[in-house]
Amino acid sequence: MQETKKLRLYALTACALALAVLSAYPVVFVKWIVPLYAVCVAVFVAAAFLLFLALFTSKGKEKPILFSLIGTAVYTAALMGITPLVNNVIFGANAPWNSVLVNAALHLVFWFVMLRLIRKNTGEAFVWKPLLCVLLVLAGSAVCVALVAPNMTDPLFMLTHKEERYFEAWSEDQAFARDYCAELEKDPGKDFVILNLADIQLTTDEAMGEMGAQVKRYTDRLVEEVQPDLITLTGDNAWSGNAYLALIRMLESYEIPWAPVMGNHDGQGAASEFWCAYKLSKAKHCLFRFGPEGMGYGNYIINITENGEIIHTLFLMDTHSYIEDENSVNGPVGEDNYDHLWPNQFTWYTWALDGIEAAAGRSIESTVIFHIPLYEYKTAWETATGVTDWESDRDAPFIGEYALSSFGVRHEYGGWSPQSNGFFDLIKEKGSTKNVLCGHDHVCDYSVLYEGVRLTYALKDGPGCYWEPELNGGTVITVGSSGSAAAEQHFIPAE
Ligand SMILES: [Fe+2]
Repeated sequence: MQETKKLRLYALTACALALAVLSAYPVVFVKWIVPLYAVCVAVFVAAAFLLFLALFTSKGKEKPILFSLIGTAVYTAALMGITPLVNNVIFGANAPWNSVLVNAALHLVFWFVMLRLIRKNTGEAFVWKPLLCVLLVLAGSAVCVALVAPNMTDPLFMLTHKEERYFEAWSEDQAFARDYCAELEKDPGKDFVILNLADIQLTTDEAMGEMGAQVKRYTDRLVEEVQPDLITLTGDNAWSGNAYLALIRMLESYEIPWAPVMGNHDGQGAASEFWCAYKLSKAKHCLFRFGPEGMGYGNYIINITENGEIIHTLFLMDTHSYIEDENSVNGPVGEDNYDHLWPNQFTWYTWALDGIEAAAGRSIESTVIFHIPLYEYKTAWETATGVTDWESDRDAPFIGEYALSSFGVRHEYGGWSPQSNGFFDLIKEKGSTKNVLCGHDHVCDYSVLYEGVRLTYALKDGPGCYWEPELNGGTVITVGSSGSAAAEQHFIPAE
């Protein structure tokens, strides 16, 4: 083989390998891939330079090196700029796999054009092998997808997993059966203890680094001190796919049943909400279920039993993200308007509660766990403190009848939906739910017994996104033999 052909072959092979990693990089924020990425950029730039050089030389151009340097610089800059631009402007930030496709498409077009031009100038048969190179690229990218980037499974995952298959075909007319709900048996000799973790919300870089280790230390200590029978998570569990997998690994390591709900940020990072839900549903100790279709991801129920009898029910529900429905009960459509439960979830809650109480033959106390606070968290705090201008007194004490029953602080406004959606009224009407637990606002940990229902903000676990170190820990819900539940905050000193 002639030296020039060899050179081109090396260049193309290097390009193929570099492209595979480059294509994956936009969605793979794993620490160890960063130096690899830097190497690939260098190889890729060098390879592109060789392609330009081959082209300009074959055209008999003067100063081919200078032109090749300029061409390489322009091309590299364009690729670096175009990919995120196209991804963000056209697809939106929450479409990582599109950036991979755009990236790969741009490279392929570039190669194809270059090789055709070189061939045209030289007439060399070898240059006709761009197809082989394209296949190399695709193979390299596929290996990356499969081995390097779990987030990147989205295109393949979406092709091979039909989302609808994972939801229940539920109707309010169907008969309730007790085995519709998961059951956890309480030891008659002791309380049933639930430890809730809130808003861990790490990026992949953070999860793989010191912050992930820090959250693990806090969570280890919480599990050690609280000795829970069940761990719940009130959503905003992780930002992206690899962080999600790290979180699942951490929770699985305790070998304790755990039950998460989705927050508004789950599925907002590099992995889709469906992918996150799928991974949760497959984890061995995780009780997460997709739940009925058309209600979001993860509406499911856990009954706590004692001697086989249901004594308490946990409703885990998805409060979605932002209001998109013009007729929403949660308020007007708006970028900053948080969504909440939908009316079909009210129906499902009523259906299940009636079914459980019929199965138990008596009324059953329940706890509702979701991510976004009810609008009534606002009115509860204002009523319990007598303060309507929150910013004037963030540490307002609770007054009157609330002084003894309420605790905690409100250090931010609160991310509830713009209006009351009627679920609080439904809770009161049904008379079963005595505790509501939400996450979402990281520096609120207040708990107010309001109109017979305790509304509690879960304490945040770790520094993810934003926090106040003195508001670090977990929330403990204790269910006694009577079936009634009590909530308290379990603080862990920040390091
Ligand atoms: Fe949130």
